[in-house]
Amino acid sequence: MPAMQIPSDHPLLLQIVDDLSANGWSQQNIFLPVDLTQALAAECRKRAAEGELAPAAVGRGSSSEIREGIRGDQIQWIEPGQDEACDSYLQLMDSLRQAINRHLYLGLEDFESHFAMYPPGAFYLKHLDRFHDDDRRVVSAVVYLNEGWLPAHGGQLRMYLDETAKFDVEPIGGCLVVFLSGEVPHEVLPATRERLSLTGWFRRRGNEPF
Ligand code: OGA
Ligand code: MN
Repeated sequence: MPAMQIPSDHPLLLQIVDDLSANGWSQQNIFLPVDLTQALAAECRKRAAEGELAPAAVGRGSSSEIREGIRGDQIQWIEPGQDEACDSYLQLMDSLRQAINRHLYLGLEDFESHFAMYPPGAFYLKHLDRFHDDDRRVVSAVVYLNEGWLPAHGGQLRMYLDETAKFDVEPIGGCLVVFLSGEVPHEVLPATRERLSLTGWFRRRGNEPF
């Protein structure tokens, strides 16, 4: 997997920046190259098979707990230097971080992300990605790793854009969706098959939470 060098003034990144500033969210159906999507899906499945994914918790710090009635996905945080495909993904996301900072002055300093695997039937109820005691998450970014996904499989990301408007994103391999973490409530609908993604958050500097 070659390194993913993409300049931060690439038209695709500028489109995302424009969407974010106009609407607070953006969807790019063709974001990850096919070979990178496949390599990331294989890495996620390998980690799952090796037992490295664990039930995701709700909340953070001492108040975090596993609650399958709220979210049923299994996750593993990724770190640089573990895997070539993950590093390519991290490079792409860093180019996006720079593009957002250059144009929107959000002061995004870092990016945290995890693999997520939703077994059939699993869901994540409506929520915001920002914690009450930690507002460092500014922009959420999800890339999907599912080959051959059909609407009938379910598993849509449902975003609540205002009081009346909602918008469903199909979790199709290679697709990226980004949105403002503190402003767009969203949920993951249950699917009939396993659903794989990489979910991440661009964060600004903040005081360490209590
Ligand atoms: C999350 C989340 C959305 C998705 O992990 O916080 O909302 O489509 N994920 O996987
Ligand atoms: Mn979320």
